[in-house]
Amino acid sequence: MKFVVTTSIALVMITIIAVDARTPQSRGQRRNASPAPPHTEESTETLPPGNIAHGRYIAEHVAMCIECHSRRDPQGNIIESEAFLGGPIPVAPPGADWANRAPRNRGLPGYTDEQALRLLTEGAIGRDGKQLRLPMPRFRMTTQDAADVIAFLRSLQ
Ligand code: HEC
Repeated sequence: MKFVVTTSIALVMITIIAVDARTPQSRGQRRNASPAPPHTEESTETLPPGNIAHGRYIAEHVAMCIECHSRRDPQGNIIESEAFLGGPIPVAPPGADWANRAPRNRGLPGYTDEQALRLLTEGAIGRDGKQLRLPMPRFRMTTQDAADVIAFLRSLQ
């Protein structure tokens, strides 16, 4: 049964790593091809109104926040009532400094709207300004997608 849990989280990670793999290098290449807009604009951006239903769709099916940030039962199924309340990360590559736990993100406690927006649009920068450890994915969502996810997580009680 531990195997089931490990396998499901491993699958999420493979997907995320596939998405993540293109970030550092191809971003650099793209920047060479056409210069990126100045960074300062993004950080001062304010949060537009979010669409909760679309945010749920992203958090549960696209960015898969729920897969890491929730506890599972012995069969490996996410415990509904504990969704987004945090969960253990059972696998880590040997020697890597990976977090062994994904903390609660229901409601995004401790994060202002601006910090949450930065987290989801600028590659997993935590509220203290430091990049979070893997396997937290380095999301670079659009401002609107980030606003939708934030609205959804804030809507959960
Ligand atoms: C592959 C697993 C995984 C996925 C998917 C994932 N996270 Fe995380 N997340 C983590 C881990 C692990 C940490 C802890 C990182 C650390 O301790 O440095 C974390 C940390 C966080 C934090 C920081 C909480 C704090 O107390 O500072 C927030 C907020 C967060 N994640 C939100 C999200 C959101 C929103 C999504 C989906 C859009 C998401 N995460 C998807 C694994 C994941």
